[in-house]
Amino acid sequence: MPQNSLINKYNIAGPRYTSYPTVPYWNEETFSLKKWTSSLIKSFDESNYKEGISLYIHLPFCESLCTFCGCNKRITKQHSVEDIYLNAVLKEWNLYLDLFNEKPIIKEMHLGGGTPTFFSPDNLKRLVEGILKTSRRADNHEFSFEGHPNNTTRAHLEALYSVGFRRVSYGVQDYNEKVQKAIHRIQPFENVKRVTETAREIGYTSVGHDIIFGLPFQALENIERTILNTKALLPDRLAFYSYAHVPWIKGNGQRGFNDDDLPTPEIKRKQYELGKKLLAEVGYTEIGMDHFALSTDSLYHSMVEGQLHRNFMGYTASKTQAMIGLGVSAISDSLYAFSQNEKSLEAYYRLLKENRLPVQRGHILNEEDLIIRKHILNLMCRFKTSWAENSFYFKELPDVISRLKEMELDGLIHIGVNSIEVTVKGRPFVRNICMAFDLLLQRKQPDTNLFSMTV
Ligand SMILES: C[S@@+](CC[C@H](N)C(=O)[O-])C[C@H]1O[C@@H](n2cnc3c(N)ncnc32)[C@H](O)[C@@H]1O
Ligand code: SF4
Repeated sequence: MPQNSLINKYNIAGPRYTSYPTVPYWNEETFSLKKWTSSLIKSFDESNYKEGISLYIHLPFCESLCTFCGCNKRITKQHSVEDIYLNAVLKEWNLYLDLFNEKPIIKEMHLGGGTPTFFSPDNLKRLVEGILKTSRRADNHEFSFEGHPNNTTRAHLEALYSVGFRRVSYGVQDYNEKVQKAIHRIQPFENVKRVTETAREIGYTSVGHDIIFGLPFQALENIERTILNTKALLPDRLAFYSYAHVPWIKGNGQRGFNDDDLPTPEIKRKQYELGKKLLAEVGYTEIGMDHFALSTDSLYHSMVEGQLHRNFMGYTASKTQAMIGLGVSAISDSLYAFSQNEKSLEAYYRLLKENRLPVQRGHILNEEDLIIRKHILNLMCRFKTSWAENSFYFKELPDVISRLKEMELDGLIHIGVNSIEVTVKGRPFVRNICMAFDLLLQRKQPDTNLFSMTV
């Protein structure tokens, strides 16, 4: 089937599968805080000594609103919020510590946002030291943070380096001025160059850039220019995101431009194809959905060794069974259950003040969820999945089988005896392929806007 027809057929709203079940399909009725903490204790006991745990810390503040942004953030210029927030996060961490019998071993820590570099270097250091005082850093730990090129300073980079951070990713998006104006994010190349080079001088071993295609007013030549600039700085990792247009998310302010200013799905797909071709010429390998890396980066090695993992932070080079998310709206994963914190700062603070974990909702995974989750993770991380002989969970489900056969006819996958492999042509449609396995989505199609378009 020609590329354009494939786009018309497969460009539908669909999840990005940073989890399965996806958040809108979590079952609130079978979830309770007690079940969540029990599942986390079980997971912790099973895995802390073997592999350690991961921590995600959400730092939600930004000084100014970018009108494309789909993240959970709070816009303010008042830096007095820093202390209050950090104290709350450390209190949340202490409530988790009370659950465990032994010191957590921290394998991964990621500071995400919002804008972590909104906080002063001293405060970021205080936060990390507060956590490390009560835990142990794994020998092969991977600590990383998201930096905004406009406000990351040498002092930020040095402070976090001194407590074990070796990886930073910067939001770049696009270098064109008209696009930057539309998304309300004026960010000259010099700023990105400065923070990239400073991180390297200090000793960071992996610098990443996030760029986006499908932004308002973005044309093919803007993608070319952005990648030429990227080539000049050669980040070790690159996220090449498809712009997720989700204007129904409350408070994300995406109404700074009109829908007509966005490229059509056909142009968007061309932007992706062009970007992918140019990135390959520069020396980047596609790692999984949206992600590229140089062959010297740990994400590349982890892909080659089949160790790549995907969680709420995106792709990671290693896997831990337990991941605790701290901070407003943060999501945690114990393998057996998910939980999400309160999304409003006020509710988050209120629960902590009452010495309660600020969990708002969650999901306890059943046996079927665990099987589907494994296949979706395999497809997202390795572009293939397999099962033991004759044990294909979906074999009695004619809808799933016919969907997969149709995708095979369209050239997106190859169905083997006990396996499915995504073809090169099928890679851009990996979300659609995962959707074929998503029984919760198939049993109940959403009746409101929940997901961005897959193309
Ligand atoms: C939460 S931001 C944190 C980084 C930091 N606040 C900054 O803006 O530089 C992480 C990345 O998410 C991506 N992102 C945010 N909203 C998006 C959207 N609607 N569609 C695609 N990517 C998006 C951007 O590439 C951004 O750099
Ligand atoms: S893109 Fe980054 S800086 Fe801009 S609003 Fe979103 S989180 Fe804040």
